[in-house]
Amino acid sequence: MKRIAALAVASLMATGAAAQTVKIGVVNTFTGPQAMFGDMTDRAFKLYQKLHDKELPSGVKLEFVTRDDGGPNPDKARQLAQELVVRDRVQILAGVAFTPNAMAMAPLATEAKIPLILTNAGTSVVTTRSPYIVRFSFTLWQSCVPLGEWAAKKFKRAYTLVADYAPGQDAEVAFAQGFKAGGGELVGSVRVPLQNPDFAPYMQRVKDAKPDALMVFVPAGKTSTSVMKTFADLGLAAAGIKLIGPGDITTDEELANMGDVALGVTTVFHYSAAAERPANRRFVEAWKKEYGANATPNFAAVAAWDAMAAIFHVVKEQNGKIDSERTMELLKGYRNADSPRGPIAIDPETRDIVQNEYLREVRRVNGQLANVELETVATAVKDPWKEMQKKK
Ligand code: PHB
Repeated sequence: MKRIAALAVASLMATGAAAQTVKIGVVNTFTGPQAMFGDMTDRAFKLYQKLHDKELPSGVKLEFVTRDDGGPNPDKARQLAQELVVRDRVQILAGVAFTPNAMAMAPLATEAKIPLILTNAGTSVVTTRSPYIVRFSFTLWQSCVPLGEWAAKKFKRAYTLVADYAPGQDAEVAFAQGFKAGGGELVGSVRVPLQNPDFAPYMQRVKDAKPDALMVFVPAGKTSTSVMKTFADLGLAAAGIKLIGPGDITTDEELANMGDVALGVTTVFHYSAAAERPANRRFVEAWKKEYGANATPNFAAVAAWDAMAAIFHVVKEQNGKIDSERTMELLKGYRNADSPRGPIAIDPETRDIVQNEYLREVRRVNGQLANVELETVATAVKDPWKEMQKKK
């Protein structure tokens, strides 16, 4: 045995390759109503690695240590991140579906000086909580301001219904700002519990107020389907109320479960699996080849895909020897002209994603429901909330 090991070391030295493992700790949601986030992220990470593994410098390997936070659960997320840093000695943290979890992990990233690469958590303020946070997902402000501006051209009176936590509040305020600036009138707004809400009483209240449109934000996944069904069951669509929102409410992988009630729902978002861009066509094709013809990647998958491309970039640039400060420098200057969602960049000042926002409508395409992109409503959007803070 000893001789074999010695030989292996000798041959490694002879080729000049040093075995170098980069340890990445992932905290995400793999159980509960939003388990989709963990699955999508994990699949995207694995697929990217499978297709790009050869690009890593010789002898360099990525090792993932993955943990389930079970949903919006800040104490659990903090504890898991702490263990990943202290016990498992990860060099990079990644993932995080829920804003409260990302907020809880931020001080740890700062203290330990470990880059935290977000693949979801969309409340604007999150990236300000640690200089080691970089976001590859989106902010609710990015989609909801252009959504409000577009809605003001179409509708006179709107109502908002959001999950009662930070990203819901962002969605509500950002939409109101865009809608009012465009001359629209907000006739009501309601916040519903984050966990297991019964939407019926809230939807009834909305119906009674007779708005032209209802803007909804809830965390994407099974909850979106439940919103869609209640909206139809209580007759809001039949009463002529139009359902609109950020793309979380028509998340690509749930469209088949939502069924025809989703037809015509209009959203603004940065990613649709139905987008015609060649980079997206290739991405969706690779996904279906790997995970089956009925599998559809969504915005969480594309965030993780792009984040993994950025991780590959920092690993290659440093030859597998990860230095936190250099990693942050590289991430701050990161750009990709050809992401499945279109061109993306990290704003070096805020460490937040810069991307396009598309107006989409759920339509039937080749027998299946899809978020069809109608137009690019905003190009290279920086988080509007941070732009506003700068002016204050
Ligand atoms: C968040 O907690 O930041 C969050 C969760 C689910 C979403 C969007 C944002 O669909």
